[in-house]
Parts: sequence; structure tokens; C-alpha cells
Amino acid sequence: MFRLTATTVKDAMQSSAPRSDIVVQGWVRTRRDSKTFSFLELNDGSSLRSLQVIAKDSLPNYGEVQKITTGASIAVHGDLVASPGKGQRWELVADRIDIVGRAEDSYPLQKKGHTPEFLREIAHLRPRSNLFGCVFRVRSRLAFAIHTFFQERGFVYVHTPIITASDCEGAGELFRVTAIDPASPPRRADGSIDYTKDFFARCTYLTVSGQLEAEAFACALSKVYTFGPTFRAENSNTSRHASEFWMIEPEMAFCDLQGNMDLAEELVKYLIRDVRENCAEDMELFAKFVDRELLARLDFVLDRQFQRVTYTEAVELLEKSGQKFEFPIGSGLNLQSEHERWLTEKHFKSPVTIFNYPKQIKPFYMRLNDDGKTVTAMDLLVPGIGEIVGGSQREERLEVLEQNMRRHKMNPAEYKWYLDLRRYGSVPHSGFGLGFERMLMFVTGVSNIRDVIPFARTPGSAEF
Ligand code: 4AD
Ligand code: MG
Repeated sequence: MFRLTATTVKDAMQSSAPRSDIVVQGWVRTRRDSKTFSFLELNDGSSLRSLQVIAKDSLPNYGEVQKITTGASIAVHGDLVASPGKGQRWELVADRIDIVGRAEDSYPLQKKGHTPEFLREIAHLRPRSNLFGCVFRVRSRLAFAIHTFFQERGFVYVHTPIITASDCEGAGELFRVTAIDPASPPRRADGSIDYTKDFFARCTYLTVSGQLEAEAFACALSKVYTFGPTFRAENSNTSRHASEFWMIEPEMAFCDLQGNMDLAEELVKYLIRDVRENCAEDMELFAKFVDRELLARLDFVLDRQFQRVTYTEAVELLEKSGQKFEFPIGSGLNLQSEHERWLTEKHFKSPVTIFNYPKQIKPFYMRLNDDGKTVTAMDLLVPGIGEIVGGSQREERLEVLEQNMRRHKMNPAEYKWYLDLRRYGSVPHSGFGLGFERMLMFVTGVSNIRDVIPFARTPGSAEF
């Protein structure tokens, strides 16, 4: 009875002709009884829509069928016939219904809509709701599109380590990885914990970025990308920050900041176009229930050229805006999300790439510009979210890189392998990181990062 080759609801709904003797398996969304038969809405997650099943009272287990409740799993054998009812082309007339797993009365998902906040508390069941089915089908498609984009352009996919000894972004937002017994840690003479006695004989952490290792591979395979989980122990409880998120990091040898910005813009447009073309049904649900302007905004972004301004120009625009901001603006200060949103939503009304930031607010690896004050950083901002891409041209000159490290209070000796890349055949190279969940928020209109990750990890929360 159970088979992976059973007909999916999606295939049944798209059938071009009636079909006899098919099996469809899934979960019951609703059941209602009429005089001589029962209607069941069957969903298997292959599409947003459910298949209507007709269970006639002539079924041998009709009494059992009438006890099926929302959430139960069933396998239906029968014929796909044209539906006389409104709203669907096909329905499945059952000649056999196997009740695979009943659902207890406490099943929390009911036909009426639930809020995303409520659904977050039942993250293990929410993929069975319409909204989250759509989100996670689009997430899967977006991941596929990312690989297609890079593979078609000759990039090599590199798996960078998850456990690492380096703090790439230098922000100290690291989760420590240790096998030391907290009850009796090995200690140095001064009482501090001796991590040389730890599992890896050094301090280790969950990676915040695969960039440094990707650079090593770009300096061999020329064009590479990573796509994996990254971790930040950043205690910011916002709708755009997660402690565990996925990042796509291309890294290209023989590439400068211009080439880097070009690629980031091309990637963002490619991904929007891909989900517009391949997830039409899911996208319509977002447009209907999540964000009415979504499709128009995405199409507008596709049609328009992205804007580019330097950090200095952006600061001038903000200062002249006449707008009251909560956080101060000024040369040398980081742009806050309210500033980023003003630039994309109010001023440019389109995505904008800001480049050449002051060196003191950016990490050690970015290439110093000739002015000695700014670095070749770039951030791509989009309306509604702010930053979705952060990247730079990398400092390829050994001495300048060592100076940058010392300025950032880093010990160059600990980064010998990274500096070696500048000792042996150094090349100008560039790359960026695209936040996968931020991109997903942008294409779906879903406004909280917790609702585009299967099981979100945020400060104070790691259930499931
Ligand atoms: O700007 P970030 O910190 O850049 C880097 O990590 C570089 N090493 C990337 C590179 O050049 N290879 O992060 C890159 C992107 C951000 O633009 C944002 O989209 C996302 O990662 N991001 C987060 N997404 C969700 N939750 C968080 N806490 C995030 N922090 C960054
Ligand atoms: Mg950034």
C-alpha cells in the first residue's frame, strides 16, 4: 500500500486526463459529511492546494472514515475524475481508504487561520499549515536556484568548516565549542582555563562565516562559493537576526569591488526571477495574505537598475533628509537599520549598494583604499529589510594586512595560514555573504526571520 511512487496531490491536480487506480497519501485538512458520502480535503505538501476525496457510504470501513478528524494521515486508492463541484478540476473517488494514523482531538491546527506567533510555538506542526508549506517550498527552491546560479557560472562549491579557531568578523560574537568538563576544567597557574588541554588543543568556536577558508580555495580554484549554516552569539532580539542562519559566500580571485558588486546584484535579481517563475502558486498566497504589494515590489526591483552610492554620499543624503532618526548619523558611525530603510524605501525606492566605508567600522580583511581612510566594503540594502549582502575586496598586500590586524588587536601569528595566501601568489580577490533567510524574507514578504527558518534559534530560544 505505501509507496514513494504514489501520485502526489500536485500531480493529480495537474492531470490532463482522468486516471483510474491511483494512490494518494497525505494528511486530512477537513472532513465534512453529506447524506451518502463524505468529503475529505487531502494535503501532502506537494502543493498549496488540497485534493478533494469523495468517500461513498458503500466503502466497507465507512463508519471508520466518518471518524477521521483534521490532522489524520490516510492513503486513498481510487479514480481521478472530473469534479462537478466548484473550485477544482479533479477529485478522487475512493474505492479504498486506509487510515494510517489517527489525530487526537487536541490537534492544534484547525481550518481557521492561526497567527504566525501561535504557529511559532508549534514549529513541529506548522509546516502543515498553508503559509508555512509555502515558505518551506520556496526555501527549497531558492536553495536550488542558488546552486544553479553558481554552477552555471563555473563556481566550485566548497564546504568550509563549522568548527573553527578564527573570528572572521572580529566582533567577538562566538559560540565556544569545548569538550572541557565545566565542573573541573584544567587550569593554568593563574587560575584561568587552559584551553590547550581542550579537545582541539586550542580555543574553538562555531563559525560566523566561511570566508577566510573560502579565500584559500578561491586562491586555487579561482571562483568558489560556500552555502552553509553560520552562528552568531549576538544578543540582538530583532526580526532580522537569528543565532543560526545560512549564508552564501562567493569568493573570486582576480576580481575587484566592481566585479563583486555586479555579481551580488545579478544574484539577487536571478533569485527573484527564479521564484517568480517557479513558485507562482506559493507567491500568490504571500501576495494575498502576507504582503499585498509583494509582487509589484519584486517586479519593480527586477525592472530597475540597482543604485550605487559611497558611504560618504549616503551619509550626506541622510544628513540632508530632514528626517528625525533615533540614532545619530555621521562620518565614522555605522548605518543603523532606520538609516538603511530610509535610503532604500524613501529616497531611492529601490535596492542600493553602499560602498567604501570608513575602515574603523569594518573588519580587518577589507582592502584599504588609497585615501588611507576607507575600505572597499560594500553592503547591498533592499526595501523592507535593509542589509541582505555584506562583502568587500580583500586586502591582498601582506604588509597592509598585517597592519590591519594589529590595528584590530589581532595577533598575525595566529593567522599564519591566512597570511600565507598573501605570501604565495597573492591576487586581488573579492567576495560577499548573502544572508539566505534575509533573501527569503525579501522574496516572500514574511517579516520575521523566525518564520523562514524551519526551527529558529534566537536568544533565549532553542526548543525543538
Ligand atoms: O555582513 P556579514 O557579517 O558579512 C560576513 O560575514 C562576511 N564574512 C561575508 C563575506 O564577505 N564573505 O554577513 C553577511 C550577511 C548579511 O548581509 C546578512 O544578510 C546576513 O549575512 N546576516 C544575518 N542573517 C541573519 N541573522 C544574523 N544574525 C545575521 N548576520 C548577518
Ligand atoms: Mg554586514
